[in-house]
Amino acid sequence: MQIKSICCLGAGYVGGPTMAMIAAKCPKIQVTVCDMNQQRIDAWNSENLPVYEPGLDEVVASARGRNLHFTTETRDAIASADLIFVSVGTPTKSFGIGAGRAADLRYIEAAARLIAEVAHGHKVIVEKSTIPVKTAYAIKTILAANSTNGATFQVLSNPEFLAEGTAIDDLNNPDRILIGGETTPEGFAAVEALASIYAEWIPRDKIITTNLWSSELSKLVANAFLAQRISSINSISALCETTGADVDEVARAIGTDSRVGPKFLKASVGFGGSCFQKDILNLVYLCESFGLPEAAEYWRQVISLNDWQKSRFVAKIVRTLFNTVVDKRIAILGFAFKKDTNDTRESAAIYICRDLLLENARLAIYDPRVTGQAIRHDLLAVGVDPAIIDTHVEICPDPYTAADGTHALATLTEWDEFKTLDFPRILGLMLKPAFVFDGRSILPHAELKKLGFAPFAIGKG
Ligand code: NAD
Ligand code: UDX
Repeated sequence: MQIKSICCLGAGYVGGPTMAMIAAKCPKIQVTVCDMNQQRIDAWNSENLPVYEPGLDEVVASARGRNLHFTTETRDAIASADLIFVSVGTPTKSFGIGAGRAADLRYIEAAARLIAEVAHGHKVIVEKSTIPVKTAYAIKTILAANSTNGATFQVLSNPEFLAEGTAIDDLNNPDRILIGGETTPEGFAAVEALASIYAEWIPRDKIITTNLWSSELSKLVANAFLAQRISSINSISALCETTGADVDEVARAIGTDSRVGPKFLKASVGFGGSCFQKDILNLVYLCESFGLPEAAEYWRQVISLNDWQKSRFVAKIVRTLFNTVVDKRIAILGFAFKKDTNDTRESAAIYICRDLLLENARLAIYDPRVTGQAIRHDLLAVGVDPAIIDTHVEICPDPYTAADGTHALATLTEWDEFKTLDFPRILGLMLKPAFVFDGRSILPHAELKKLGFAPFAIGKG
């Protein structure tokens, strides 16, 4: 089975960059990325891509118009594709059975029904979205029950492991590619067809194949293990603050043990992003559904600890500012959930800003990549009164405007530019004592102290 034409449903943070990389590496394959969101497609076809990722512009420019296309003409793209990636959103369900934990699979189901309606001939359907284990069974059932054109299908699971901010490096040189398929001759053939696409630039020994359910489950488990490490080090950050230990020193000491490893041990204001919380909740729901409440409770704690870390940071600010922040101006540096992305989904900054606004603080927010419109949208979505946003939130064009006249400054995203700010200038702009709350532990604390700031960093005694 040779793949000549690929279509991807969903032109988001995963669909766009992933398909751009496949198109760049496989010039003989036509790759069409579809979305019903016209604005998003227009942006992918413009010089101003909807996703900010270092290196993405160059990858898109190398293939767009040649063998990479972005369109809202989804039906045509499905009809002419040999292989269809489904990369639509799978948010946490907000209503009914499993509300707040289960994945909302409405977009997956709609995609499967559309494929069944339009497809002719043989198609390989690839789950790229992160979904609960056994979703391939639902997709197969929908395809079989609704196909009217005599089409045949093989369903594969091929979860995506890229992290935002490093998506291009991750796609170029992944730790592994995981492909799950049916253990039948047709299933093996479909797995091989997909594997041979990745093998254009990824060594074969990095392409792992498994059965469908192992692949689907591995994605949730990978995110749960990664998030668990952050909650583990964040729990220790609290202990460090009360004992005089330094969490970065502890992380280094334990991370040099090759069994632990050095990555994902950076204490922070709490993990954010569209994946970790959603996928752990999904795992919790699966454990509950399969009658494993103890396992569910174990993973739920990773989220509880993360929520505690965010509220602990707000409490630290309020306590330090003499137990009141009413009408005090506080500079917020960074709103994205991590550096090098414009994505704010589940960013710790959203909840920290909301809680400071509940204390009647005034916020001066600066982020190098996140728009004021996105910040306002996020604050509204967590229940902040629009009138409070108008009167108490200022979106600033640079860190110095944000710091002007503030009682405190808090770093919530680890943007590199914050490490080398003109700190004497910032000190001159701030009210005294000039409190700094470094939620990412990235600032030069010895220098700040010497200059006359009153700095606090997560996990530093
Ligand atoms: P996203 O919200 O950025 O993009 C999803 C897109 O799918 C939206 O633009 C939406 O309009 C579109 N869509 C929905 N139904 C469609 C349909 N029937 N046809 C065409 N387009 C349709 O989401 P994302 O961040 O790209 O995530 C997609 C999936 O990948 C999720 O399951 C997520 O968990 C998973 N994932 C995300 C990341 C990440 O870093 N963001 C990493 C790994 C896996
Ligand atoms: C994550 C997974 O890493 C990726 O494999 C998966 O495909 C999607 O979910 P992403 O959420 O994009 O990727 O970024 P990641 O680098 O994992 O960071 C997630 C959050 O954890 C961010 O808020 C980040 O600041 C935080 N984090 C990360 C820490 O607080 N400490 C760390 O040591 C690492």
